[in-house]
Amino acid sequence: MYNGKLKARALVGRSDAVILGIESSCDETAAAVVRGKDILSMSVDSQIPIHRRFGGVVPEVASRNHTLAAVAVVDDALEKAGMTLKDIDAVAVTYGAGLLGALLVGVSTAKAIAYACDLPLIKVNHIQGHICGVFGTHPDLQPPFNAVVASGGHTLIYDVKDTTRYEVLGGTTDDAIGEAFDKVGRLLGLPYPGGPEIDRRAAAGTPSINFFKKERHADKDLKLSFSGLKTAVVNYVHTLVQRGESLPVNDICASFQKCAVELLVLTAEEALKRFDYGKLVLAGGVAANSSLRREFQSLGERMNCKVYYPSLALCTDNAAMIALRAHFALEKGEDIADLDLNADSGLI
Ligand code: KG4
Ligand code: ZN
Repeated sequence: MYNGKLKARALVGRSDAVILGIESSCDETAAAVVRGKDILSMSVDSQIPIHRRFGGVVPEVASRNHTLAAVAVVDDALEKAGMTLKDIDAVAVTYGAGLLGALLVGVSTAKAIAYACDLPLIKVNHIQGHICGVFGTHPDLQPPFNAVVASGGHTLIYDVKDTTRYEVLGGTTDDAIGEAFDKVGRLLGLPYPGGPEIDRRAAAGTPSINFFKKERHADKDLKLSFSGLKTAVVNYVHTLVQRGESLPVNDICASFQKCAVELLVLTAEEALKRFDYGKLVLAGGVAANSSLRREFQSLGERMNCKVYYPSLALCTDNAAMIALRAHFALEKGEDIADLDLNADSGLI
């Protein structure tokens, strides 16, 4: 007999529940323990070295490696927190968005622990988790605020009304910003993932190539697209290759990065004009980008808005952000799942 849902009710209103978070949506297997908004431990097993030789994430390879790492990251997170499963009040897991087979590993692991230890199971939206990573760095930050999630899988702009209400205002209609970084990186022969590599190389280059054919304006519906920019870089590179000329890799990186950042800043600025929250959160793996951070900082100054970022470790995929999102849900008795919880790869 499973009593997890019943036990969740006893935790409503409590701000100090100990939550074990599990994340496996893409190529990081991660676990973390939080007490309320305090992060007690984090464990991240990255598969980047495994996928690097394929130039990108191979979904089936990711799933198989998640199964190998899942128990180890949970053990590691518990050990670092000085705890055992007996000290845990609830288990939280990413159930979407992400790669279906990869998500299923985390979901199955969390369900097994919830069943075996008779604990509440909390389902977490990965993208909202990215936003909650900011509370690990700025625990006193209070909604409402606007948020931009810039990751490998998503580029979305939000109205965060409170810690459990996230309204999508707009976002990319094609490639995610991180995906564009990774594809351009691959085109230039840089190791996967291209994002951090382009960031490094851009610092040594000059943004002398304008990949935009015409002047940019923010879309009133807050939609943006990275695929045109990516194609412009592809065409530029192919032309040079056909002519037998060498590629100015650092300048291409600097120029692409400048354009990609400009697109996101323009759209974020348009969104900010509609709110007077005075607070903006920039989250997701690409929030680690030095130029994006800098430009969002100046955007904040222009718009009289304070900009908040998660620490670098909380920007890229991790399980602390998942446990933090679950903390807010559990406090209100929301998102308590049954043991038939399934993964939802297309969740927004
Ligand atoms: O949030 P995340 O870890 O995974 C997803 O949920 O997608 O984001 C990974 C993405 C990758 O596309 C990676 O290239 C990008 O974040 N990234 C960066 C930087 N660090 C990570 N992109 C640009 N500059 C960086 N410094
Ligand atoms: Zn992510």
